[in-house]
Amino acid sequence: MKLGLYLLTGCLALIREVSGATLNYDFNITWVTANPDGLAPRPVIGINGEWPPPILNFTRGDRVIAKVYNALGNESTSIHWHGFFQNGTNNMDGAPQVTQCEIVPGSTFVYNFTVNQSGTYWYHSHTRGQYPDGFRQALVIQDPEDPYAGKYDEERVITLSDWYHDQMPGLLKKFISVTNPTGAEPVPNSALMNDTQDLIVPVLPGKTYLFHLVNVGAFASQYFWVEGHTMKIVEVDGVSTEAADASMIYITSAQRYSFLITMKNETDQNYAMVGSMDTDLFDTLPPTLNYNVTGWLVYDDQNHNPAPSTVSEFDPYDDFQLVPVDGEKLLEEPDYTVTLDLTMDNLGDGANYAFFNGITYVMPKVPTLYTALSTGPAATDPAIYGTNTHAFVLGKGDIIDLVLNNDDTGKHPFHLHGHAFQVVARSAENAGHYNSSNSPAFPPVPMRRDTVFVKPTGYFVLRFRADNPGIWLFHCHIEWHMDSGLVATMVEAPLDLQKTLSIPEDQHQVCAASKTPTSGNAAGNTVDLYDLTGENTSSPPLPAGFTPRGIVALVFSCVAALLGLASITWYGLAPISQPPRGMAERED
Ligand code: C2O
Repeated sequence: MKLGLYLLTGCLALIREVSGATLNYDFNITWVTANPDGLAPRPVIGINGEWPPPILNFTRGDRVIAKVYNALGNESTSIHWHGFFQNGTNNMDGAPQVTQCEIVPGSTFVYNFTVNQSGTYWYHSHTRGQYPDGFRQALVIQDPEDPYAGKYDEERVITLSDWYHDQMPGLLKKFISVTNPTGAEPVPNSALMNDTQDLIVPVLPGKTYLFHLVNVGAFASQYFWVEGHTMKIVEVDGVSTEAADASMIYITSAQRYSFLITMKNETDQNYAMVGSMDTDLFDTLPPTLNYNVTGWLVYDDQNHNPAPSTVSEFDPYDDFQLVPVDGEKLLEEPDYTVTLDLTMDNLGDGANYAFFNGITYVMPKVPTLYTALSTGPAATDPAIYGTNTHAFVLGKGDIIDLVLNNDDTGKHPFHLHGHAFQVVARSAENAGHYNSSNSPAFPPVPMRRDTVFVKPTGYFVLRFRADNPGIWLFHCHIEWHMDSGLVATMVEAPLDLQKTLSIPEDQHQVCAASKTPTSGNAAGNTVDLYDLTGENTSSPPLPAGFTPRGIVALVFSCVAALLGLASITWYGLAPISQPPRGMAERED
C-alpha cells in the first residue's frame, strides 16, 4: 500500500517533470521612443518594437528557449535572468565577459534552459550600463506546489523603478570622470510604478490578491506601502516565507517581494499605494524631483483617487526576520570564508572607483567561463582569471561564508548570481567590520534571498553551499557602482564545470562576431596560463606622495587654468544638501 503510494507520487513527479512546456520566444531588441513620466520622450530599449518589455510568465519545469536578436544597431546587448540558478546551464546566465560574449548588433544569442525554481524574478540586460535605458522587466514563475495555492484569487505584478531622462552612455561618461572626483551618482529624474505614474489597479471587494513587487531600478531603493491595507509577505527573491504582516516594505534595486492583500468589503473609497525613493542615497536633492510615485487600488472608478497622506517616518519591515517555509536550517560552519572590504577611492585618472579589498573590477578579455573551461587543472588557480576580475575559487560542495564590510557611508544592495544565500548576520549602521566574537548568534533558520543590502559602515555575512558549478558574479546592484567596479567573481567548482558543460557552436559564433577570444587565461594567453601580459586592468593608482584629494585638486586647477575660467562649479562638487527626512510627500 505504502509502496504503491510512493510509486504513484513518483510517477506524478515524473509526469510533472516531462510535461513542462517549452516556451519559445523571439526577441528583437530595438530602440523605441517612450515617455513614462510624461516629462521627456526619450529612446528606450524595447522588445519587438514595444516598451515596456513584456512581463514573462513561466511555470517551474518549463523549458525556455529565447532567441535574442540584437537590432539596436549601435550597442551590444545581453539578457541576465536575475535570480535563476542556471544549474547545469551557467552559459545561459547572461553576463557578458563572464558567462558569454556580448551580443553585437546583428547577432543572435539563444538562451535555452529549464526552470527549476519559482516565485518573483526579473530579467535585464547585463551589458555595461544598459538596463536603466529600459531593458528590464518582471518575470513570475508559477509553482505547481505553491504553499499559498488557494489562498488568493488573483495575481498582480507591480514594478518600481527610478528613471532618467538622459541615456546611460552619456551619464556614465560624466559619472566615471575626473570632473566627478567624489563619485556623485546621477540623481534620477522620476520614480515609476509599472513604468508609468498614477497607475490604476482595479480590485474587487473581499478578494485576496497576490502582489509580486519588483524593484527594476538602477539606483534607488524605495519604500512601498498601501494606505489602509496590510501586506502579508509570503515570498522574498523566490523563497517562500512564513506569512509576515508588514505596513511598509523597503525594496532595493533587484529585490522582490510577494505579499497578499485581502480587499475591504466596502467600495466607497479608493486607496493610494506609494513608492518613495530613498533619498539618503542621493548626494543632492534637486528641487524639481518628485521622488514619490503613486498608484491606486481602485474599488470603484466613480470614486476619486485621493492624494496620499504624508507619513511621519519610514519604518519598513525588517526582512532579516523572515523565515523560509521550507525551514532550511543554518548551514554548518564554513569551509571557506571570502571577506570583502568595500571602499570608494580615486585612481590615477582622477575618476572615482569602487573597490573590494583594493581591487576594482575590470572585464577580462576572455569571458571567465571560457577561461575555466579551457585551462585544464590550472582552472582552480584564481591567478589565471586576471588581476581585476577578483576571482575566488570555491570547492565543490563547500560551505562558503561571504563577509562584506562596508567602509563606505552609503547603503549597497548586493546580488550573488546562481544562489539564494542564507543571510546569517546583518549589522546596524556604523557597526564597523564583522567580528565573530562580538556579533550576535546566527539565526537557526536564516532568511534566504539573492539580493541583500548592507547598511552604512556596517557589515553582513552570507552563507551558501557551493553546489552549483559555474562562474557567478557577486556585485552591487546599483548600476553606477557595478560600472565603477564593485564586482567580484566566484569560480565555483571549475573542474566539475569542465566535465559537465560544453559551449554550443552558436555561442562560439556570437564570440566570433564580437572578435572575442574564447580560450586561455584572462588575457587570452593559451600557452603560458600564468602570463597575463596584455590583460585588461584598471587605471594605475595615484602616484606616491599625492593624496587622492591633492591630485584631484591639482588636476582641477590645471583643467580650470586651461579653460581660462576663474571659478567653475563642477558637477559632483555642488554643495551636498540633505533631503528632509521622513517626508514622503513633496509640497508644491
Ligand atoms: Cu540583476 Cu548581475 O544582476
